[in-house]
Amino acid sequence: MAEERKTLVLTGASRGIGHATVKRFSREGWRVITCSRQAFAEDCPWPAGPEDHIKVDLSDQEDVGIAVAEIRHRLEANGGRLDALVNNAAISPKLEGGTRMNSIDTPMHMWRDVFQVNFFAPIMLARGLFKELGNAKGSIVNVTSIVGSRVHPFAGTAYATSKAALVALTREMAADFGPHGIRVNAIAPGEIETSILSPGTDKIVEGIPLRRLGQTSEVADTIFFLCSDQSSYVSGSEIHINGGQHV
Ligand SMILES: NC(=O)c1ccc[n+]([C@@H]2O[C@H](COP(=O)([O-])OP(=O)(O)OC[C@H]3O[C@@H](n4cnc5c(N)ncnc54)[C@H](OP(=O)(O)O)[C@@H]3O)[C@@H](O)[C@H]2O)c1
Repeated sequence: MAEERKTLVLTGASRGIGHATVKRFSREGWRVITCSRQAFAEDCPWPAGPEDHIKVDLSDQEDVGIAVAEIRHRLEANGGRLDALVNNAAISPKLEGGTRMNSIDTPMHMWRDVFQVNFFAPIMLARGLFKELGNAKGSIVNVTSIVGSRVHPFAGTAYATSKAALVALTREMAADFGPHGIRVNAIAPGEIETSILSPGTDKIVEGIPLRRLGQTSEVADTIFFLCSDQSSYVSGSEIHINGGQHV
């Protein structure tokens, strides 16, 4: 029975959408290996132990390399199989008061940090775990954003372009990983009730067809769908989760 347990590697599990995702997969009986900057907190009420948490700073390439080696090592007990990788962690720097950082003023070092966390780390993880994902005929979900396809009043330009690049990467990886039985998809959330939102989001919500914010559990449900057999012929897609905002 233990051998049949599916495993997910999830970045950015400590808050928001990632937190809801870890709960969703755990409810379905999956083992979830979480990755974030903080070490496993011993007082964490979570039933999983430190063996299912990897402390990694995705903004540091070397650290990502070490984390990949560690994840592969921990998957050996699973017969070197990985059923899903969800690239969820991201950073979205803003100016004071949550305002948008534009393409004229954003410092280059910040631009590089955003791309390292939001774009290069997903490539490194997907390539580093390619063998294990192939062994399980697994699935990759990249968490993009509605701002990858339009200018947003609060989301910075470095963030927006990193998400646009991640959509393109999803397409490219679907082509390259598909022949190995690995599906690659993206989900693009709109305004989801988390700490990433800026003051003034209420105004945007007035224009969303469903007239409300999305909940993290609604995003987690779609991620789960894309990692389950229910979506076995879906690859190279980006699913909008935004209450119709993109129309
Ligand atoms: N919320 C929304 O409305 C919305 C809309 C569109 C897209 N999204 C996307 O959805 C995803 C999750 O968003 P969220 O709002 O749930 O984010 P969040 O609450 O800001 O959480 C971000 C997560 O990423 C981790 N993280 C950040 N920098 C990291 C680093 N350098 N190394 C390792 N982990 C790092 C954080 O963990 P630690 O701080 O513990 O390291 C945290 O768990 C992101 O990709 C975001 O772009 C969100």
